[in-house]
Amino acid sequence: MTLEAESYDFVVVANRLPVDSVTEPDGTQGWKLSPGGLVTALEPVMRSADGAWIGWPGAPDTHIDPFEHDGITMVPVALDETEVERYYEGFSNDTLWPLYHDVIAQPSYHREWWDAYVSVNRRFAERAAALASHGGVVWVHDYQLQLVPGMLRESRPDLTIGFFNHIPFPAYGLYSQLPWRRQILAGLLGADVIGFQRTADAGNFQRAVRRLFGYETKGSSIRVPLEETGERRPEKSRTVVARAFPISIDSASFAELAQDPDVIERARQIREDLGNPKTVLFGVDRLDYTKGIRHRLKAFAELLQDGRLDAEETTLIQVASPSRERVAAYMELRDDIELTVGRINGDYGSIGRAPVHYLHHGYPREEMVALYLAADVMLVTALRDGMNLVAKEYVASRIDGDGVLILSEFAGASDDLRQALLINPHDIQGVKEAIMTAVDMDPRERKRRMRALRRRVLENDVAKWSKTFLDELRRASHADAGKAAA
Ligand code: F6P
Repeated sequence: MTLEAESYDFVVVANRLPVDSVTEPDGTQGWKLSPGGLVTALEPVMRSADGAWIGWPGAPDTHIDPFEHDGITMVPVALDETEVERYYEGFSNDTLWPLYHDVIAQPSYHREWWDAYVSVNRRFAERAAALASHGGVVWVHDYQLQLVPGMLRESRPDLTIGFFNHIPFPAYGLYSQLPWRRQILAGLLGADVIGFQRTADAGNFQRAVRRLFGYETKGSSIRVPLEETGERRPEKSRTVVARAFPISIDSASFAELAQDPDVIERARQIREDLGNPKTVLFGVDRLDYTKGIRHRLKAFAELLQDGRLDAEETTLIQVASPSRERVAAYMELRDDIELTVGRINGDYGSIGRAPVHYLHHGYPREEMVALYLAADVMLVTALRDGMNLVAKEYVASRIDGDGVLILSEFAGASDDLRQALLINPHDIQGVKEAIMTAVDMDPRERKRRMRALRRRVLENDVAKWSKTFLDELRRASHADAGKAAA
């Protein structure tokens, strides 16, 4: 039997497969599990529940048969060049992404992008419908695939369907701009459980459902009348749960890496290579306009200008990993950031000393942990961010209990990480004061705060997140089955 002809009790549907293509030393092509937390969380569930993962391999026109990797069945979905432009770069990342991040950049609304979004969502849904076993569980992820739950419910009403939105869900005043606002809501309401990062996101979603459909909501439950959705079932309505499930990281693996002597040595080496400055500030983000990199650089430059930070004693490392490089807003951001970094280094640098070390690369996890250990102050200044896992990675890596986290209140992580120095990144003066507070903080105060932060991150890891979501999904499906039988 081919992998494709099998059926699976647990199916994950996400825009990307959790593997990266690698070229082996002998020149053959292979796969490596990508370092993201999602796959780490789901790996054990996938293995024990006979799971398959449906996703795009990440390059256009890549037609690959399903394959097995590390005990997980990978089911690649091919996108052609036009679909990459219209579904991925267009509707997902130039319409939904800016809209869902509070219109920090102007969203573009194009009907041909929407058409591509619908047809690619249909392809993912058809794949899932063909693979999921009778009564199986399908977990759909993120804003690229919001129509999949509805499409799946239509073709496979026997399934239990979960959806998790990894990014924010905007307030109704913004969401209502979307010309396809009803279709997206209807797509999401096909799920039994809809997960959001923050309670505020779930609230925004429920409000949109009330405003656009007039459905009744109570606590985290939404009553979806079946005569309106055309579902043929004995009962009159279906209950959809919409609430927050804040995602996390594989905290223990970061803590473990931070104990690795090679990583510790690398952290020492990094500081030495920088000339052993008194203070190392660190930012690491995808190069995205939601991350507030400009605001961070502005605050840093002003502190150098004011003479409150000394360029001879302070270094800011900014890692900005390449992302969505063909989308105009990302190209403009890159030019802007690189111009600003050049200006700061030109104005405040000296021979052998650059106040900003800007690195336009992605790094493996070992190097990231070494950087976290080398950093006295971690800067997370997102203007809007679903969660921000970097904040959690920094905390999990600081097994020495030291280091100060500056964290934007517009990142989901701030709901939990209250002992960080919380900032409003739009308030440049406030960011400057927070940086100075962090730089001057008494070591006992640093340790007290970090201890409390670490407790949160180690207790609430990504395995707990996926278990909580899947438990809720199981409850929802049992409640539903009970009602249908009644
Ligand atoms: O935060 C949303 C998200 O889709 C993540 O799941 C992903 O890691 C990141 O953005 C990068 O996105 P892309 O797949 O566009 O490179």
